[in-house]
Amino acid sequence: MYKIEPLIYIGQNILEQCLPYVQGRQVCVVTQKEIPDLMLQKLKNLFSSKTLNIVYIPEGETAKSWATVEYLMDQFVAAKFNRECTVVALGGGVVGDVAGFAASIYLRGVNFIQMPTTLLAQVDASVGGKTAINHAQGKNLIGTFYQATSVIIDIDSLQTLAQRDYIAGLAEVVKIACVRDADFFAWLEQHVETILVRESGTVMQMIHQAVKLKAQIVKADEKEQGERMLLNFGHTVAHAIETASAYDCLHGEAVAMGMVQALALSQEHGLSVQAVQRIIALLQGFGLPTQLPENGWQKHMAHDKKHRDSGLNRVLLAGLGQGMIHLEALASEE
Ligand SMILES: NC(=O)c1ccc[n+]([C@@H]2O[C@H](COP(=O)([O-])OP(=O)(O)OC[C@H]3O[C@@H](n4cnc5c(N)ncnc54)[C@H](O)[C@@H]3O)[C@@H](O)[C@H]2O)c1
Repeated sequence: MYKIEPLIYIGQNILEQCLPYVQGRQVCVVTQKEIPDLMLQKLKNLFSSKTLNIVYIPEGETAKSWATVEYLMDQFVAAKFNRECTVVALGGGVVGDVAGFAASIYLRGVNFIQMPTTLLAQVDASVGGKTAINHAQGKNLIGTFYQATSVIIDIDSLQTLAQRDYIAGLAEVVKIACVRDADFFAWLEQHVETILVRESGTVMQMIHQAVKLKAQIVKADEKEQGERMLLNFGHTVAHAIETASAYDCLHGEAVAMGMVQALALSQEHGLSVQAVQRIIALLQGFGLPTQLPENGWQKHMAHDKKHRDSGLNRVLLAGLGQGMIHLEALASEE
């Protein structure tokens, strides 16, 4: 088992690691019916001495909505959850984002634990304390910074994950390697086949490195005033693509296309042609899309959170493993 800080655990069959972080009597597991029972059964056993509530939210990106938050508030109030209760997010990034948001506003914030069950949530969404729901005009426009007291990454959950969802998660792994760690990028290139067949040792090593890199960045800049913006590599365009596709396109797929879109401008800032070719080859090797869609995504760029008065902060690469922030003037986007 890997352990990062006292808070993030990565391993197999490790859900019980959460127990020291559950102090009160009331536990609410927020999950989805689509998530196989295996993990939930384990939690039912672990929390047999607690008052356990299981609340199901709808599947899909559209569940990141006020309606779901209202539903969760209704459930929390009906169950009379007090300030010592614990909300556990058991699921992918959608469950984590919306359950985290609900936990951050209920009674002005209650104990929150992440148990991510998709690769994307394990390597990215569950770490760093960003919670969010969507607005009709744009993704993740409403949310809070709210740290989970622990993140339990049990890779056994990946056994049931659809290959398309698994591959989408790999986009966030490529992203963090691109902006922060050229050696990790090279390691990914060497392990494409074992990663794709989910060889457990390789997957655990990959998740550990991705999470370690993300945790370092978050520790240095929790509220995204500087360095943390690097994690948005490919995301400005990705969010626009997702919104324009009415969330038909998975987040990770959109991130892959968003990264490709940022490569041309990155070349103007020093990224070599060879590096561009390696990034595109790795994305394609994992089966991720690299061709931008013609779905009118450009018009959704105006609502991106990364807009400032002075322009839009774009993340580019100066080299492999070297993300950089570039302030793009607003007029140039139209
Ligand atoms: N908060 C953050 O920092 C952050 C970072 C990156 C992404 N995100 C968000 O994460 C979301 C995407 O997350 P995602 O890719 O996990 O999508 P998701 O949560 O929609 O999960 C994908 C699908 O897999 C199913 N599923 C989950 N676990 C499963 C399992 N173990 N076995 C079988 N099926 C399972 C889900 O029900 C869903 O149908 C987006 O909304 C994105 O904005 C947040």
